[in-house]
Amino acid sequence: MLASAPRDVLGRPLRDLRVSVTDRCNLRCRYCMPREVFGNDFPFLERDELLTFEEIERVVRALVGLGVRKVRLTGGEPLLRRDLPDLVARLCRIDDLEDLALTSNGVLLGRMAGELAAAGLRRVTVSLDALDDATFRAVSDTTIPVQTVLDGIVAARAAGLAPIKVNAVLQRGVNDDQVEDLAGWARDTGVTLRFIEFMDVGTTNQWKRDRVVPAVEVADRIAARWQIEPIDPDHPGEVAERYRYTDGAGEVGIIASVTRPFCGTCSRARLSAIGELYTCLFAAEGHDLRALVRGDADDTALRASVSAIWSRRDDRASELRAADGLQGPRVEMSYIGG
Ligand code: GTP
Ligand code: 5AD
Ligand code: SF4
Ligand code: SF4
Repeated sequence: MLASAPRDVLGRPLRDLRVSVTDRCNLRCRYCMPREVFGNDFPFLERDELLTFEEIERVVRALVGLGVRKVRLTGGEPLLRRDLPDLVARLCRIDDLEDLALTSNGVLLGRMAGELAAAGLRRVTVSLDALDDATFRAVSDTTIPVQTVLDGIVAARAAGLAPIKVNAVLQRGVNDDQVEDLAGWARDTGVTLRFIEFMDVGTTNQWKRDRVVPAVEVADRIAARWQIEPIDPDHPGEVAERYRYTDGAGEVGIIASVTRPFCGTCSRARLSAIGELYTCLFAAEGHDLRALVRGDADDTALRASVSAIWSRRDDRASELRAADGLQGPRVEMSYIGG
């Protein structure tokens, strides 16, 4: 089967697929879904536009046939699809799919972790940008207390979902004072924390370069408090630069998408909730697979179509980013997933 695995124009294979199951979210993080834009009258996708779980399974199977080994379910907030465990169970049955993960903001994990684990999910990544309650509520523009997310993490652990990763997007002057607290908490809790540089995904989040907290600064601040040493990537194309605490308290990662972009090894494709395939997080448009799935294309035709799309791919937006950010239209993160 791998003989038919396509390479893109820059020689990169297709290994990793992120599947967005909804464009809705129960938070309104200022850097992702600012309330002024994503308000009550925002035209979110209608239910009948969304791929069904059966259709998602079909697309995933086709892409696994082309070399995908890792799938991540995202949103928006994927747990807003209440029957998500059904999708997990379907995807777990796919031979050759080595890793199935979920990215969630954690709010509904307390309620759903047990069911997700029972359906076959093994691990989860929780987005959490602050431990301080007021900062959390300000960043996420919510009245939900940070404790709800922390309880969700505890529930995930109790359900056996491991390893638990926590992603924190840092913004200068907003939550950059949280670095040491988050790192100390992660060390004590045994979760793997990764700090993420704030990116100019989409066009609504008021990105400015001076809001980015560079990876080098984050590493320096952690090193000033605890002794750390760099460790080798876990797998080719890993996005996080990883460090080990020399006292044995686990590791911490930094995702330097802005200051040290990693397009050279990018093997990720993204599937929107309505079945468009995006070959880059910063693409303006996707390729419509739903029409194929709902039309009379068989699996061979579906694979051939994706293979042709991937073979033409030459995206490397983060490497091409100008000093003042990307130009032109591009999809929103809440639409395409993290
Ligand atoms: P693991 O397999 O758990 O290590 O996941 P991962 O390392 O792929 O990381 P994750 O899926 O948690 O992504 C973390 C963050 O990295 C995302 O929320 C994005 O901010 C950023 N990121 C992930 N993939 C890409 C990508 O393809 N391009 C860019 N520019 N950023 C990305
Ligand atoms: N820059 C970096 N990461 C982002 N995320 C959402 N928007 C951005 C952005 N502008 C992250 C979230 C979450 C994942 C879904 O994507 O924090 O971890
Ligand atoms: Fe929702 Fe995640 Fe976007 Fe925050 S970053 S608004 S939790 S999708
Ligand atoms: Fe991949 Fe595009 Fe991100 Fe570069 S900017 S790492 S090509 S998704």
